[in-house]
Amino acid sequence: MQSLQQKASEWSGVETEHAFLIDDTNLFQKLGLQTFLNLSTNFYNRVYDEEEEWFRSIFASSEKEKAIQNQYEFLVQRMGGPPLYSQRRGHPALIARHREFPMTHEAAERWLHHMKQALENTSDIDHHSKIIMMNFFRHTAYFLVAGVQQNNQNLHPCKDAAGSHPCK
Ligand code: HEM
Repeated sequence: MQSLQQKASEWSGVETEHAFLIDDTNLFQKLGLQTFLNLSTNFYNRVYDEEEEWFRSIFASSEKEKAIQNQYEFLVQRMGGPPLYSQRRGHPALIARHREFPMTHEAAERWLHHMKQALENTSDIDHHSKIIMMNFFRHTAYFLVAGVQQNNQNLHPCKDAAGSHPCK
């Protein structure tokens, strides 16, 4: 069976070792806390203003300010800064935290579209950092899609991804 990392690479088109190039540079030291706050604010402003209702509605039960804080604290922690996210929320456990959302390829592409725009429109992020961050985001988005799908499959072995019941 393919591992989640293998699936994430295949679906995202990003090799696992390229996704983890973010660990070779301390992006937190390079970019600073304010840049991560600006990036997440920019990202979620786009998500909450999204014209596509199907995507916007995925975030309907989250408060924008809380979502910004959750994401920027996670990014600071993951990219070499202090463990702000875990101090407040515990282990990231991102697959489990995304299981209630419709984690499809289409949703991943839309999420990535907004993150690409947010990266382009946040000042003080150099070209190389943008590339390695985007590779990490692409790989992680599809890792989460694969992880949530696998969990759902284990919970409901007779339900396929489209929700029909091939065992019946
Ligand atoms: C939270 C959707 C990809 C990191 C959330 C939330 C939603 C969501 C609806 C709740 C907002 C909140 O209350 O914080 C999605 C979708 C994705 C996606 C549809 C694409 C398929 C990602 C990726 C990352 C990520 C690629 C990391 C690089 C997070 C984090 C939280 C979060 C850290 C906060 C979790 C918490 O503390 O509860 N996501 N997400 N997400 N997402 Fe995603």
